[in-house]
Amino acid sequence: MMMMTMKMTTQYTFWILLIFSILIASCSTILALGGPGIGTNYGKYGSNLGVPEIGINYGRYGSNLPPPEALPSLVSSLSIKHVKTFDMDPRVTKSFANTGISLSLCIPNDKIPILASNLSEAESIIRNLILPYHKNTIITSISVGNEVSLLPQFSGKLVPAMVNVHRAIKRYRLHKKIKVSTTHSLAILSRRFPPSTAVLHKSIAESVLKPLLRFLQRTNSPLMVNVYPYLAYKQSYPSIPLDFALFQPENSPKRRRYTDPYSGIAYTNLFDIMLDSVDSAVKSLGLPKIPVVVSEIGWPTSGDPGEAAASLENARVFNQRLVEHLRRRWNKVPVYIFALFDEDQKTGAAVEKHWGLLFGNGSRKYDLNI
Ligand SMILES: *[C@@H]1O[C@H](CO)[C@@H](O)[C@H](O)[C@H]1NC(C)=O
Ligand SMILES: *[C@@H]1O[C@H](CO)[C@@H](O)[C@H](O)[C@H]1NC(C)=O
Repeated sequence: MMMMTMKMTTQYTFWILLIFSILIASCSTILALGGPGIGTNYGKYGSNLGVPEIGINYGRYGSNLPPPEALPSLVSSLSIKHVKTFDMDPRVTKSFANTGISLSLCIPNDKIPILASNLSEAESIIRNLILPYHKNTIITSISVGNEVSLLPQFSGKLVPAMVNVHRAIKRYRLHKKIKVSTTHSLAILSRRFPPSTAVLHKSIAESVLKPLLRFLQRTNSPLMVNVYPYLAYKQSYPSIPLDFALFQPENSPKRRRYTDPYSGIAYTNLFDIMLDSVDSAVKSLGLPKIPVVVSEIGWPTSGDPGEAAASLENARVFNQRLVEHLRRRWNKVPVYIFALFDEDQKTGAAVEKHWGLLFGNGSRKYDLNI
């Protein structure tokens, strides 16, 4: 969401394809009841990475946000034990010392070019920003940049930068504890629907994502993807029913299913479809399965006029049912909810400012039982 403006544009284009495929091929099936058993492909592998089941993103583009020292008690009050940041601020890292709350850190995008060519720079980042803190603060992963795999100025340098960060971590013998990865928007998929036919964007599939996935496999690190059913719903309106995007109530007799015509797998919600499309796209590169972490997911509480689905009640329902959906699955997929706070300083569409579980003053926007 740091680069939300860009993402929104790329995702708009992308979802137009989904709208079309749904309208042309499968609108009737998404509304149909019955069909074969419900299932998914994603997540059918052990990940055992010490990564969270439910975590939360801590973005900082808000006025009046509480000081870092106040974070652990706010996060604990939500019963969340895992936090993902968009930077490596020592004050934040320090504030989570001895709290039992784990951190996923992020190296800012603009560092990627120098990290790709200069191992000493990577070592200096690890020496200065990780080494002094990792004994007291649980650090599980470092994302090298945020949603850069499709940006030409970074994409060619991304894997070399990740390799150097991993080397630096290994040099300090932290590689078993701290995984190196990078977050992707779902715009890396040029086709997502039906999920069994999803493929990665041609421009980066072989040149960037294949070596990247091989790196993740070699280092036993997860693929991190940002998954936004809200954007998919909004951009394909009205072909995806709102309750399909909001995870339908488990025992509703009117529960809808969408059956993938090629795999025969039946889906009851948009989230499962989106994750299975990631699974198929990785497979389409000829690579084995890889553990996936959903690095961002959420639902906005407010937006521009015309965005009626962005509401307090829908955000509460989405996040609550997401938590319950994940709890029920035997094959766990860790997620980081977006986000801890509303970020009123974000530019772009109004909807970007309203993803928080908490107001800046720390009080809850709605109840969420995790
Ligand atoms: C590489 O990074 C180190 C540490 O930050 C710096 O001292 C050195 O000048 C850099 N070398 C090059 C060629 O940029
Ligand atoms: C926190 O901020 C929200 C939104 O501005 C406001 O409605 C609420 O009353 C505030 N809570 C406290 C305890 O000040």
